[in-house]
Amino acid sequence: MMPQGLITISYIASMILFILSLGGLSNPETSRRGNFYGILAMTIAIVVTLLSPKVSSYSILIISLVIGGSIGLFAAIKVKMTEMPELVALMHSFVGLAASLVGFASFMDHETINQLTPTELAIHNFEIYIGIFIGLMTFSGSLIAFGKLSGKISGNPLLLPGRHLLNLGIVVLVVIFCILFTSSNLFEEQLNAIVIMSVLALLIGVHQVMAIGGADMPVVVSMLNSYSGWAASATGFMLSNDLLIVTGALVGSSGAILSYIMCKAMNRKFLSVISGGFGTNNNSKKTSSSTTNASTPVGEVTPITATETASLLINSKNVILIPGYGMAVAQAQHTVYEITKLLKEKNVNVKFAIHPVAGRMPGHMNVLLAEAKVPYDIVFEMEEINHEFTNTDVAMVIGANDIVNPAALDDPNSPIAGMPVLEVWKAKNSIVMKRSMASGYAGVDNPLFYKENNRMLFGDAKKMLDDILVQLKL
Ligand code: TAP
Repeated sequence: MMPQGLITISYIASMILFILSLGGLSNPETSRRGNFYGILAMTIAIVVTLLSPKVSSYSILIISLVIGGSIGLFAAIKVKMTEMPELVALMHSFVGLAASLVGFASFMDHETINQLTPTELAIHNFEIYIGIFIGLMTFSGSLIAFGKLSGKISGNPLLLPGRHLLNLGIVVLVVIFCILFTSSNLFEEQLNAIVIMSVLALLIGVHQVMAIGGADMPVVVSMLNSYSGWAASATGFMLSNDLLIVTGALVGSSGAILSYIMCKAMNRKFLSVISGGFGTNNNSKKTSSSTTNASTPVGEVTPITATETASLLINSKNVILIPGYGMAVAQAQHTVYEITKLLKEKNVNVKFAIHPVAGRMPGHMNVLLAEAKVPYDIVFEMEEINHEFTNTDVAMVIGANDIVNPAALDDPNSPIAGMPVLEVWKAKNSIVMKRSMASGYAGVDNPLFYKENNRMLFGDAKKMLDDILVQLKL
């Protein structure tokens, strides 16, 4: 058994490492170090907790560790990069479920409850109530997010009439049952209150995420990330574990900051996301392409071949590459970098433009480009590079769609109206590489394809880029 003093010191070390980890993860260049700090912090946290006097039996712990660890390892090895967002959503649901189970266990733990003074008991009951509420809301909301991100549930927002009132009504009921739960001494009464609240928490989680859809999903991902942090923090309160409280709060607040950044990137209001009244775009009541008044682009698209693309690229001075979800699907990042290196050798200035919601998870494109070893100094965020398109000879869009859609700026009826986008059409030539005329995640038509200076390079991104590479090497 470890002495309490040593446990406290180890927990503080672990907290510091978690903070350093977050600091490291905020920049691609230091992200490896950040990951290492995180692993170290988690290892210390687990080992020290296992050695603490609170643990009375190891058999259940070892069985759980082996089962949980094996599932985690299997999922991490098996998951494709394109399935990462839904895996993350599923993991968030587990955090929520764990928090609520700890809440139920604490509620049943009469031995601990009997030792508490009335004031301590009221506080403990409140912690249990909040823990179960946040946990179950995170659980059901994350499962719906998993369904939406994996395409098992329609991505369109479900807009029930009077949904704000419905949310408000549920919150009022949750507060009333909270008062009943914390003020009652009768087990039966408390059980009824907590069961009803559990159903309400599951409902509000489902409703909140169902009401958000289309291109607004990135905010859901970061919001649930934040919720899972607060659920973990609530677990820390129930178990009187300072490390869990602090770590949960770190995840909760960093998720909230990420949600804010995402909202800014999507030009949405943070408060309307929090209240779940989100998904209708700029007060428009219609969001899916099938129900909007958005104008359908007219005209003809002009195709281009890989050979013509290669020749355009090599005769350019400035080229900007815009990766999107299709690059992740095609796993084309390595070929993209090969092309970049070849163009650089031929004195073409190549830069990458990254939209904050490109792909299906925050930082998705940065991760892929880092994997291909693209140097960070040629990778730029949207606001850093958007003004450079006017001086660009070729803007090549690799499997992106929504993030380069001019309708976001030009068409007030578009479901993505108001969302800042990469203004590739301002370049001398733009080339869009994709397999068909299909729309992107938001299900919106893209007028860029029909612009006079735009060319369509139809085909799988990896195959097309391989062909371009061959031509560049000739
Ligand atoms: P999308 O708008 O989804 O467009 C991707 C395009 O890639 C598709 O139109 C598809 O067209 C093409 N594509 C797919 N596989 C391809 C392949 N093998 N080769 C070539 N092209 C391929 O992606 P985006 O522009 O990156 O925008 C992201 C969207 O996802 C936004 O609406 C965003 O809100 C949403 N979203 C983002 C996140 C986060 S956190 N980033 C989370 C959830 C949702 P074809 O089928 O014709 O090939």
